[in-house]
Amino acid sequence: MSVSSGSGVPVQSLDPSSVVDDRDYHYNVSDEEHSGQKNFSTVDLPVTPQVRSAKLTDDGSLSVIWKNETTTTSEDQSIHSSVWPAATLDYWADNILTGERLSNFTPAKRTLWNRAKYNALLSHGICRITHADWTSSSNPAAFERALDQLSKTGLIFVTDVPNKEDEVERIGQRIGMLQHTFYGTTWDVKSKPRAENVAYTSQFLGLHQDLMYHEPIPRLQLLHCLANSCEGGESLFSDGVRAAYAMQIEHPELYNVLTWFSVPFHYRSKDGQHHYEAQWPTIEIDRKTKYIKGTHWAPPFQAPFRMPFPGLVEKGGFLAKWKEAAAVFHAMLASPENMVKVKLKPGECIIFDNSRVLHGRNEFKTGGEGDRWLKGTYVSPQVFTARQYRMQMEEDGRPKRRIRLRGMDGKVTIGGDQNDTTRLLKSERSQVKAMLGLLED
Ligand SMILES: [Fe+2]
Repeated sequence: MSVSSGSGVPVQSLDPSSVVDDRDYHYNVSDEEHSGQKNFSTVDLPVTPQVRSAKLTDDGSLSVIWKNETTTTSEDQSIHSSVWPAATLDYWADNILTGERLSNFTPAKRTLWNRAKYNALLSHGICRITHADWTSSSNPAAFERALDQLSKTGLIFVTDVPNKEDEVERIGQRIGMLQHTFYGTTWDVKSKPRAENVAYTSQFLGLHQDLMYHEPIPRLQLLHCLANSCEGGESLFSDGVRAAYAMQIEHPELYNVLTWFSVPFHYRSKDGQHHYEAQWPTIEIDRKTKYIKGTHWAPPFQAPFRMPFPGLVEKGGFLAKWKEAAAVFHAMLASPENMVKVKLKPGECIIFDNSRVLHGRNEFKTGGEGDRWLKGTYVSPQVFTARQYRMQMEEDGRPKRRIRLRGMDGKVTIGGDQNDTTRLLKSERSQVKAMLGLLED
């Protein structure tokens, strides 16, 4: 289809099928003026809408009169026109026609870390932000820098947090809506009798990720330290994606097992009110691109294997292979050189990416002097992704990373600032090779 300007000169060629598709989303004539939502159904439209005329007006908006279209909500059933403002057309040019949408959001290249690397970042003031800078709208650059560091490393510290119970909510809401779970919108991590969760005891808590049995799995976890004067109780963190790449490089066969063998997780409360189940491979990859999306490791909430098919439990069977691979993976995660150990101080709040960063805690002493109290909350994957995407849009008006651009001639090209998953994979793998001493950094 050729779109003409007022003078009749063709200004742009459009693929009719994409116009139909986009019109379905941006049918502005019938959109409710304020909400921007559609007030008709796709089934009201003809299968093959035809354009009677189209022109680009002086203010840059596109006006189309449809030939054969009627809709049930249209007052005039014989003639229907659509007008798209210039800003909408620009948005399409940068986004919809090129396939760039929030659902295609490509994350930033991650900074993978072991203990030495993460501590070096901290010593350079990276991954640390004051509460004032995080919460104040007067210093957006500081907040955006910290959010970027969170996207890349999966672990940041907010410091100088007031000693108030509701501060963790305020910190989380700077990113977006908090994720409510059956633990509540916020929850307390402190030792209590007859605890329903091992986190609420004083015992050693091995590396794990939270709520692997829950959908959606919370993406970010925030823990604000209100008191930590007990002996012990140091927090432990390990980068699961770094360990996954190390498995891929050093033990490719075992790595493969961890990417396809599904491990069941569950939670059943004693009163029967909460019963959740889900299963995930230990290392989750994008099947098409092989990009490592994250890890799933939560021994306390692992459910019994219930797959009684031949070869599961025999020596050399599937379960035996997974156990072998999982043991190597865990040893990598928990080795001292890969684990960051920190005793949180009152006034500190950690924010970490639960899809990738495993956390745990050393045993702490109770009953005598001292107290330990952390207040936590979660942010969902969707809210975190939307916040990262919004930050990119605010920075330069459009997402920095383009994916694939299909030209009007049908040829696919890659945008100059593309950062697709193949490139991410190569770069992230190189980081881990350097850490393993297999490559110069
Ligand atoms: Fe936890």
